Amino acid sequence: MKRVLDWNKYIEKAVQTVAEGIVMLENNNALPLGVDDAVSVFGRIQLHYYKSGTGSGGMVNVSKVTGIVDGLIEAGVNIDQELLGIYRKWDEENPFDQGSGWGGEPWSQKEMPLDDDVVKKAASSSNKAIVIIGRTAGEEQDARIEAGSYLLTDNEKDMLKKVRKHFNKVIVLLNVGGLIDLQDILDCKPDALLYVWQGGMTGGTGTADVLTGKVSPSGKLPDTIAYKVTDYPSDKYFGDKKCDRYTEDIFVGYRWFETFAKDRVLYPFGYGLSYTTFDISFDKAERTGNEIIVTVKVKNTGNYKGKEVVQVYCEAPQGKLGKASRVLCGFTKTSELAPNETETVTLKISKRDIASYDDSGITGNRFCWLLESGSYKFYIGNDVRSPELAYSFNITEDQIIEKCSQALAPVIEFERFKACEKNNSIVYCMENVPVSEVDEAKRIAERIPKEIEYTGDKGIKLADVLSGKKSMNDFIAQLSDYDLSCIIRGEGMGSPRVTAGTASAFGGVSNSLTALGVPAGCCSDGPSGMRLDCGTKAFSLPNGTLIASTFNTELAKELFEFTGTEMIANKVDCLLGPGMNIHRHPLNGRNFEYFSEDPFLTGKMAASELKGLHKVGVTGTIKHFCANNQETNRHFVDSVVSERALREIYLKGFEIAVKEGNADSIMTTYGAINGLWTAGNYDLNTIILREEWGFDGFTMTDWWANVNYRGGEPKRNFYAPMAKAQNDVYMVCSDSSCVDEDIENALKDGTLTRAELQRNAANILNFILHTHAMKRIIGDEDTVEIINRGSDSGESDEPVVFYDLVKTLKIDLSDVKCVKGTNHSFALTVDTEGFFKMTITASSEQSPLAQIPVTVFAMGTAVGTFTWNGTNGKPVSFSLELPIFSRFTAIRLYFAQNGLDLHSVEFELTKTVDNMDIAFASEDK
Ligand code: BGC
Repeated sequence: MKRVLDWNKYIEKAVQTVAEGIVMLENNNALPLGVDDAVSVFGRIQLHYYKSGTGSGGMVNVSKVTGIVDGLIEAGVNIDQELLGIYRKWDEENPFDQGSGWGGEPWSQKEMPLDDDVVKKAASSSNKAIVIIGRTAGEEQDARIEAGSYLLTDNEKDMLKKVRKHFNKVIVLLNVGGLIDLQDILDCKPDALLYVWQGGMTGGTGTADVLTGKVSPSGKLPDTIAYKVTDYPSDKYFGDKKCDRYTEDIFVGYRWFETFAKDRVLYPFGYGLSYTTFDISFDKAERTGNEIIVTVKVKNTGNYKGKEVVQVYCEAPQGKLGKASRVLCGFTKTSELAPNETETVTLKISKRDIASYDDSGITGNRFCWLLESGSYKFYIGNDVRSPELAYSFNITEDQIIEKCSQALAPVIEFERFKACEKNNSIVYCMENVPVSEVDEAKRIAERIPKEIEYTGDKGIKLADVLSGKKSMNDFIAQLSDYDLSCIIRGEGMGSPRVTAGTASAFGGVSNSLTALGVPAGCCSDGPSGMRLDCGTKAFSLPNGTLIASTFNTELAKELFEFTGTEMIANKVDCLLGPGMNIHRHPLNGRNFEYFSEDPFLTGKMAASELKGLHKVGVTGTIKHFCANNQETNRHFVDSVVSERALREIYLKGFEIAVKEGNADSIMTTYGAINGLWTAGNYDLNTIILREEWGFDGFTMTDWWANVNYRGGEPKRNFYAPMAKAQNDVYMVCSDSSCVDEDIENALKDGTLTRAELQRNAANILNFILHTHAMKRIIGDEDTVEIINRGSDSGESDEPVVFYDLVKTLKIDLSDVKCVKGTNHSFALTVDTEGFFKMTITASSEQSPLAQIPVTVFAMGTAVGTFTWNGTNGKPVSFSLELPIFSRFTAIRLYFAQNGLDLHSVEFELTKTVDNMDIAFASEDK
């Protein structure tokens, strides 16, 4: 099939997403900007728009990011050029600190100190000021309650004060991935305050559309903004390196605040202003078997066109279980309404979404989803706080919605919050959390599948299964123990079997599997666009939090259909996203990748993104399954959570993504839930995911994850418990085709059976059968013509050259042209992993004052920058110590200037170390 990807339309869709995801918290006639406004922009981030956070979720190579000032200039806004010049000059003298190494970029940058006279002068030529505060975030660490992290720095505070002093209208924009402290900002009484989030490479255009009034803001908060971090009920244990107890239980975000602590809320969940006003009125409700169908009329009562989000919250009876006083159970976004225009919207509310899970048996229906008897009240409006009661119904007897069995429950005793009635009001009390009574070994033993008899190679190719000539069982019968042991291991990063610079290959990862016609599927990070470490450019999307703030499921679907088509063009089958962990605490380092504190919103947005990808035959890998809610010691922390909280909060989004979004690829987490690492967790991967939800795709671990048996030490590359739990693929191995003794031994001593491995193989193969990778093998490849990409072109058909690095290597670079803004990439197949001395030799005929920097990226991460001056043509060498712990390592040299004659790059092994021991040395076990 021939597909066309129109880059302009892709950009338009991303810009629309940004504009719809921006949340306006305050506006005292400062916005929109008018044609007569002159604007001074403060804050160095105006020159370095944060398109996303850092780490795997943000490493998308782009040739151009449109920042906020670029967007404003393009939109014709009169910007104070003199001030912009001052920032540019200072920025040149104080370069942006990229940091170095994995997660090494600082989360904020030094701010330009502001001279009072500079602000005064700016105020004499402009009537409005925009102040931009920026923060990034990322993997391996959480934000901290420190200046430059959650709090403002002194320079930022000073900037705000000075700007406030001299300007009548001050607009503050937060170019951040997640929540930051607002107190110092609000103290300066800004006239307008907007979370503009991180909008990907077109973020500035979307932001300008809102600021200029081309689009009226319609984004809504996906999280509650409380006064202080300590107000969030998860704060007590968040960040604990060993054991994070989820004592707040189901009371996450607004569920806590609306039930017990309304006065601690600065801006409620779902809140966001528009340039216009709306009247939302309940029309009617109808109850069918499993649904309540609500009809609502929305009228634009103001003077601007705009969209509104209709939100439906349920207040279930407290019953015996105790409930949150509000739970989001429906939302929809109107189309753009002109002043006075009315639209009627219909929302379907599923009973399952207002049901609770009884994990203690207090209702007499243990391990069931149920509606307790009493009155169910529905509040319909445009945030969680303001709506009036719209509709209610009564049920006289408890209704069981679904029976389950105990799964994933805690194994240690601890207490949790519960809603209790006291003197006719709801207060919180504590109760003991029910612990697991499951005999896990028995549960697994009862479900060992039947072995398919081994036939050896019968000449059946995977294509024969696709065409219906042979069954999958016939195909699997041919796989030897060795084949089965290969197929459960993914290869990466940067496997030469798939698109260069991607996270992994899976499926056809050995010669014998390839000979049987199993293609190698390709995974690439994710979530906000493709990460292609060799330097290939891709579209950088708005981050997850921004997408959630749109509350627009259709838009998310449309955007990801473009991404899906771009994936086909790059031969990528699985995007490693959407990331969909719950924003349990505002300091979580990866909140920017995830959607919301609410599981319903999270699930709906993820399902929409998946629908977009599936429409063109690729998929997303929903991650991290589940309760991956802190980065501190993420490989070893144990999340101790009740079964009820897991089901109602931490699993629910995934459940929606599986059931509604037909998710077919899942990544488990690094850490443990209730004592067992998720990568080897049978209850999670088999009982809940497959038996209860009917998932029939394949699951993978997070990269180099730990796995254990209950009570045993977690270890990397520990495949037997993983395979047993039906977590199908270990990500990643440096060579998946090598013989693995662990699996051989487990098969010998019976801890793992061939039948179990065959089940993993079936999951993987059934998935791979319907990928573009498979289409390529049978010669039915889709082609994608990308049109209108212009200077952003980055896809390359040139295969990346692999060099064998056996202790030392010298590569001749004399043919490589050093052209400003370009990259030179190559990849290494490394014989011995360890530390290498990397030396680049180059010369330049430029003047001795010329500065010609070359930045070295290894696996997409900046590891150092060398700057040459003119050398009178003489070769000059620079060296750095480079840790190489991936057998396939993509190296990229980025040239920031012209004028360098490259000679060579050399590698020399200086220290051998066991790779993972050193790579993860800083962690507490
Ligand atoms: C992250 C995953 C990511 C993987 C591959 C891990 O560090 O936790 O989300 O997909 O790396 O880059």
